[in-house]
Amino acid sequence: MVQIAILGFGTVGSGIAEVIDGNQEEIRRDFPEGLNVKYILDLRDFPDSPYADRVVHDIDIILNDPEIRVICETMGGKNPAFDFSRRALERGISVCTSNKELVDALGGKLAVVAKEHNCSYLFEASVGGGIPILRPLRTSFSQEFVTDILGILNGTTNYILTKMEEEGLEFSEALKQAQDNGYAEKNPEADIEGYDPCRKIAILASLVTGKNVKYQQVPCEGISAIDKADLAYARRLNRAVKLLGVCHHDRSTGKIFVRTAPYMVPQGHPLHAVNDVFNGILVRGNMVGDLMFYGSGAGKLPTASAVVSDVIECVQNQGRNIDIGLNNTEAELIDPMTTKSRFFVRVSADKAAEAAALFDGIEAVSSEDPAEYAFVTGVVTEAEFAEKSQKLGAKSIRLL
Ligand code: HSE
Repeated sequence: MVQIAILGFGTVGSGIAEVIDGNQEEIRRDFPEGLNVKYILDLRDFPDSPYADRVVHDIDIILNDPEIRVICETMGGKNPAFDFSRRALERGISVCTSNKELVDALGGKLAVVAKEHNCSYLFEASVGGGIPILRPLRTSFSQEFVTDILGILNGTTNYILTKMEEEGLEFSEALKQAQDNGYAEKNPEADIEGYDPCRKIAILASLVTGKNVKYQQVPCEGISAIDKADLAYARRLNRAVKLLGVCHHDRSTGKIFVRTAPYMVPQGHPLHAVNDVFNGILVRGNMVGDLMFYGSGAGKLPTASAVVSDVIECVQNQGRNIDIGLNNTEAELIDPMTTKSRFFVRVSADKAAEAAALFDGIEAVSSEDPAEYAFVTGVVTEAEFAEKSQKLGAKSIRLL
C-alpha cells in the first residue's frame, strides 16, 4: 500500500481519511496498490477517533519516514504549512492541499520546489471544493487559450443571496441563517467581504497565465452592502445578484484582468441558475467556447474527495513532476480602472436630472421608493464611472 500522511485533522483532514477508507475499493480500481493513512499530524490528540493511533505531533517523524510518498496539507494558514510543505517537497514527497491562503501567497514558489525535486504540488481542492476545475484547466484546455473565467466561487455568499432572493430576507437575516446552518463562520468576514472568492479567482488567474496573481492585487467587493431592494431591482431587470470572481486574459498583450464583485447576472446565463451553497465556474476557451463546471464548492467530503484525487495523480506519477505550469514570475495585470462595464445605479430622486446629464443613454428602472431614482448606464470605463457616481453619491452594481 502507498503510505500517506495528513497534516491537520480538522474538517477536511478527517474527511480525507474517510474518503480513503470508505472508497478504498474504488481507489483500487485505478490504483491497485491502494492508499493508507499512516500518520496524522495535529497539535491535538483524538482519543475517541478510529485514527487515534496514527496521530503524531512531530513533523520530522513523517518527513523522515521513507515510506511516505504523499502529504495532504489541510492545516490552513501560511505557517507552518509553508515550511512543512517545502521540506516535504525537498525530500521528494508530493504535497496535495486545500489551503487556498498558502496557494495564493506562495503556491508558485512551492510549485518550483516540487519541479526541482521531481515531485508535485497540487491544489485541486483550493478552488471550487469538490468541483474538478484545476485538473481540467491543466489537461483538457492544453490546446486552448482561456480568455475568460467567471465563477461563483463562494458557497456561503451564494446561499445568503439565494435566501435573500427566495425568502425576501435582508442581508443580516440571511447571514444569520447561513451561520445557523453551519455555512458561515462566526466571523464571516472572509466570505461576505469577498476575500475567499478573491483568493480563488487569483489562483485560477495564476494557472491561466502561468504567473503569480496575488489576491491583494485583485479589486475586491463583497456582498455586505447588498440589500433587499437591490435584489428587487435585479428581478425587474430579469437578473439575479451573484458574487462573481472574473478574469479576462488578453491574448495580444498577455495581460490579465481580475476582479471579485457582485454582478447582476441575466436570466439564461448559466451562472444565473447556480443557487444555494453550490459553486459554478464558466471557463471560456478561444476554440471550445463556454464550458460550465458546477457542484459542491465546500464541505468536508467534497473537498476531501478533491484532495484524494490529487493524491492518486501524484502516486501515479511517482518520481516525476506533474507540471502545473506555474513558474513563479509576476503576472502583468490590466489596470482595473480601464475596464468597461454597464452599471445599475441607485441615487436619491433629486439627483435624477444630474444623473441624466452626466451619463449618456441611461435607461431608468422603475422604483418602489419615491425617494429613489434607479437607472442602468451604457458601457463606461471604471474610471469614468467612479468619478461620476461619486458626484451623485450613487450605490451601484455591475451588469454582467
Ligand atoms: N467558506 C467557503 C465557502 C468554504 O463558503 O465557499 C470553501 O472555501
